[in-house]
Amino acid sequence: MRTVIAGGHGKIALLLARILAERGDQAVGLVRNPAQLADVQNAGAEAVVCDLETASAADVTALLSGADGVVFAAGAGPGSGVARKDSVDRAASVLMADAAEQAGVRRFVQVSSMGAGQPPRAGFDETWAAYIAAKTAAEADLQARDLDWTIVRPGGLTGAPATGRVRLAAPPVPRGTVTRADVAAVIAALLSEPRARHQTLELVSGDTPVAEAVHLRT
Ligand SMILES: NC(=O)c1ccc[n+]([C@@H]2O[C@H](COP(=O)([O-])OP(=O)(O)OC[C@H]3O[C@@H](n4cnc5c(N)ncnc54)[C@H](OP(=O)(O)O)[C@@H]3O)[C@@H](O)[C@H]2O)c1
Repeated sequence: MRTVIAGGHGKIALLLARILAERGDQAVGLVRNPAQLADVQNAGAEAVVCDLETASAADVTALLSGADGVVFAAGAGPGSGVARKDSVDRAASVLMADAAEQAGVRRFVQVSSMGAGQPPRAGFDETWAAYIAAKTAAEADLQARDLDWTIVRPGGLTGAPATGRVRLAAPPVPRGTVTRADVAAVIAALLSEPRARHQTLELVSGDTPVAEAVHLRT
């Protein structure tokens, strides 16, 4: 299976690339900074420079030629402002989905966030509100498409090692944290499970082995 990962140098993306490479899949990481190419290659993936804030749909469609799946794992990240929440967390996902449709790549897993799909909680600043609005709009765009999409909303991300056990369920799931390594494992399992299409799932650490958690959603 050939999977193109948007935001290929992200922390989840690099963990995912390694899992896919280890199971014999082809992963392709899209990065905006050429200095990051080697890290993606060292994770076992092909690496391609593609800035998702400036690329055209035609550019990205060409990169998706021959792919079986897309993972949207990009994000403007901490320190970014309102404008980049929209141009990355929303618009880059829309661009990837447009390109997936054009290229005929049906499987699409989007990394969203717990908190999306509803108005931002009170007491947070305008950047948080813009982030939640961007993630919510990106989800709505994908949910309206004729693609085999799955949306994953992780809780707060940690850099701890994989536990292999999660709670993956339709919202609402009580807030919690989850390791990026477990998120990557769940995405890898979802990619090869097209019966998980058309589901929006929240993800925190839990007691259920990843494979079983994904199987339960099919
Ligand atoms: N932090 C949390 O607790 C939390 C909770 C739930 C969900 N999430 C979401 O989970 C996702 C992945 O998390 P993560 O920790 O793996 O994020 P990350 O390490 O910040 O990775 C995001 C990646 O997106 C890339 N990117 C940004 N703008 C781009 C552009 N224009 N073109 C191509 N790539 C671009 C970044 O590249 P550069 O290095 O070039 O900036 C970075 O490699 C994010 O969407 C985040 O919003 C986070």
